[in-house]
Amino acid sequence: MSKSKKELILESTTLWDFPTQNYGDKPHGNNKYNGVTPAFVIWNLLQRYTKEYDLVVDPMCGSGTTIDVAKEINRRVIGYDLNVVRPDVIKNDARKIPLDDNSVDFVFIDSPYSNNIKYSDDPNCIGKISCEKTEFFDELEKVAKEIERILKPNKVVAWLIGDQWIKKKFTPTGFLLYQRVEKYFEPIDIICVTRHNQTSNTGVWHNRARKFNFYLRGFKYLFIMQKNKTTRQKNGT
Ligand SMILES: C[S@@+](CC[C@H](N)C(=O)[O-])C[C@H]1O[C@@H](n2cnc3c(N)ncnc32)[C@H](O)[C@@H]1O
Repeated sequence: MSKSKKELILESTTLWDFPTQNYGDKPHGNNKYNGVTPAFVIWNLLQRYTKEYDLVVDPMCGSGTTIDVAKEINRRVIGYDLNVVRPDVIKNDARKIPLDDNSVDFVFIDSPYSNNIKYSDDPNCIGKISCEKTEFFDELEKVAKEIERILKPNKVVAWLIGDQWIKKKFTPTGFLLYQRVEKYFEPIDIICVTRHNQTSNTGVWHNRARKFNFYLRGFKYLFIMQKNKTTRQKNGT
């Protein structure tokens, strides 16, 4: 049996390594979608932080991995994106989510990390802004504020993001994002998710990394955070 089938179990440490995007026999999202999220990540989060019939929202759901995982385990789910690739995704900008305050039980978001991937031609795509610009974090902070507004008190958001090393320059995108979102949420934990299937995961790139003294990106951060009274006070709302 392949590892993907054998190991659909709750992760017990802060290091998650899933060699395949999908588990089981049915697709969860589309593994051909640029930047698709490993379905195991979402499954683990929903098992820990939601129960049956809870409302789960993904404001940047792409190929719909969150929708498929959530439906399969009887969670209610709404997936938004600017790039609509299937009929159950609602076109919407994550900076303004059409839901009431305090109405959602769990949010998962795998946002762009920079302008490294072309998701669509939509000019509002945050993935058109480089993470080397402050504007990138200004826009993601607007998304964080919306997530805080729609989440019920004490409920959880999980945010997946990676750093950037490009043209000999490192940008600690994860830390820079965390500095912005900690205004809105309290930390529960930070998970390190191993990166697989990158175009740079070839012998040529591994040799270049050794020869020219840089590192290939090996992980993403998964920030697990909670909305509570303290964060609302910190934020002055
Ligand atoms: C890393 S991908 C998400 C992948 C998704 N979780 C999946 O498994 O297919 C990031 C997504 O953010 C979307 N996006 C970028 N800017 C957005 C915005 N302002 N509002 C909504 N979605 C946005 C992109 O279209 C892209 O689908």
